[in-house]
Amino acid sequence: MAILITGASAGFGEAMSRAFVAAGYTVVGAARRADKLKALAAELGDGFFPLEMDMSRTESIHDALHNLPEHLREIDCLINNAGLALGLDSADSAEFADWETMIQTNIIGLTFLTRQILPQMVARKAGYIINIGSIAGTYPYPGGNVYGATKAYVRQFSLNLRADLAGTNVRVSNIEPGLCGGTEFSNVRFKGDDERAAKLYENVQFIRPEDIAETALWLYQRPAHMNVNSIEIMPVAQSFGALPVVRDAVPPVAAGEQNFEKQSTSLFAKIKSWFK
Ligand SMILES: NC(=O)c1ccc[n+]([C@@H]2O[C@H](COP(=O)([O-])OP(=O)(O)OC[C@H]3O[C@@H](n4cnc5c(N)ncnc54)[C@H](OP(=O)(O)O)[C@@H]3O)[C@@H](O)[C@H]2O)c1
Repeated sequence: MAILITGASAGFGEAMSRAFVAAGYTVVGAARRADKLKALAAELGDGFFPLEMDMSRTESIHDALHNLPEHLREIDCLINNAGLALGLDSADSAEFADWETMIQTNIIGLTFLTRQILPQMVARKAGYIINIGSIAGTYPYPGGNVYGATKAYVRQFSLNLRADLAGTNVRVSNIEPGLCGGTEFSNVRFKGDDERAAKLYENVQFIRPEDIAETALWLYQRPAHMNVNSIEIMPVAQSFGALPVVRDAVPPVAAGEQNFEKQSTSLFAKIKSWFK
């Protein structure tokens, strides 16, 4: 019986691998960078099995699962953590290729892998899917366009899984973190502009990968009758702002609206004339 953690080569996934192995579980840690996984395996020993897998390619996921040693094929907990944001540009100028990569990894990869693992959990009437969503899936922000949309998908997919899995004992949770430092998330988002990434975390007490790892472990160790649907975690330093109102821009009146205005004015004049 193993815990399968995707995105184990960095950030949350690496911290979760450490936490689960330290708690005595066997972890299969998946990612693309084999060297990083190898280094983690050297550190964690027998409790960690490195699995090279590209979440943006369904055939890579399929092959990786089929190459797993027999004794690690039974997955008791799947932690769908691998994911990324690319760019922070406005929707009208963002790179479409970045959108495709996010959709392919955060949505299609996650969905395909879940579909591969679920049948064995349902057959055993036991198991746990822990998804890593984001507060970006609930709260929109400028430049969050497709990244936020992929995480909204993860949130709704998690809830819909719960609906399908009623009566199977398989649990599903969605962890929705806010600003978290100590990972490669922003370095990836800003495509190697490490200075820009570092600025985001300057003088901020952010959430640490260990906080997310402890949360995932806590969820997994809850009693079998208990399902936490979602957990939203923000650093105390992060909060909500007012919705912006654009004051100077006067929207142009559409042709259809002009027509409607004319019609409604004449109708109003007619009604008024009835009461004279
Ligand atoms: N950090 C935050 O502030 C934050 C907040 C909310 C949610 N999240 C979410 O938390 C999750 C982990 O983020 P993180 O902060 O730990 O980021 P990170 O440090 O950049 O780690 C991302 C992990 O995902 C893996 N990954 C990315 N693309 C992959 C692919 N195509 N195939 C396989 N693995 C892939 C990476 O491994 P390889 O590059 O080796 O493949 C890496 O291990 C993501 O889903 C992210 O959206 C992060």
